[in-house]
Amino acid sequence: MKSYETILYQVEEQVATVTLNRPDVHNAQNDTLRREMYDVFAALSVDDDVKVIVVTGAGERAFSAGADIREFVAPASPTQLRERRKRIEYRAMMDRCAQPIIAAINGFALGGGLELALACDLRIAAENATLGLTEINLAIIPGGGGTQRLPRLIGKGKALEMILTGARIPAAEALRIGLVERVVPAGEALKAATELARTIAEKAPIALRYAKEAVVKGVGMSLEDGLRLEGDLSTLLRTTDDRLEGAKAFLEKRKPRWTGK
Ligand code: COA
Repeated sequence: MKSYETILYQVEEQVATVTLNRPDVHNAQNDTLRREMYDVFAALSVDDDVKVIVVTGAGERAFSAGADIREFVAPASPTQLRERRKRIEYRAMMDRCAQPIIAAINGFALGGGLELALACDLRIAAENATLGLTEINLAIIPGGGGTQRLPRLIGKGKALEMILTGARIPAAEALRIGLVERVVPAGEALKAATELARTIAEKAPIALRYAKEAVVKGVGMSLEDGLRLEGDLSTLLRTTDDRLEGAKAFLEKRKPRWTGK
């Protein structure tokens, strides 16, 4: 992987961590950061050595405060305009990743910052985190998937309430409405997300990918089609070496050794 200007990237024990790294502006997302996110997730989407991805923000205060508002007032060149057209595509590139993606929300997750968390599969928030789709306060609407992903996650009414008021809600409320899966003490979101990522990364690689595919693709399908997808993926898994290894390891009372085949 190449090095980046606005994000940090590291891989340890098959878990990749992508850190938005503009702490001076609460990890606001400018053109460079969006392009780099696109590049890093494009690379991850074809990286079989990475089993789980964690996304977080640098510093103690913010996951990401959304789009860089300074760019709203700066005149844009035609090239920049064309680049900006890609802005939701980094999240579309995240959608292409077969690996589970976990957001470690360590502080503010506002506007495009929350939309980034919504593009992840699981969300762990620090108790001092604040979440909101605040675009309406700037006379715009969420443009990074928020109007579509939020209602699918928490229901139409609650999503509309958040989007129309631009309210910022605390982590405890986010947990109550199902916007995050877990709340942990301040300063521990990344640690908790990494631990969860490692637990998941211990599972057999192909089963992991198919489990995510069945759930993520399935929710967009009719029950009948979803069950068909599940059936097809289950059948495919019967062809793997790891399935045999899992059964043998159980019977021999030992830890399985996955080959990913
Ligand atoms: N774009 C650009 N810069 C941002 C930013 C954003 N989205 N969010 C924060 N910053 C910058 C601030 O301008 C400030 O820069 P400065 O030190 O040069 O003045 C720095 O980050 C710290 O922010 P500040 O507002 O002083 O911190 P705070 O703790 O008082 O407030 C927030 C934190 C997140 C509540 C506040 O910064 C905020 O409301 N940001 C905008 C969030 C938003 O509306 N996002 C949606 C955009 S579509």
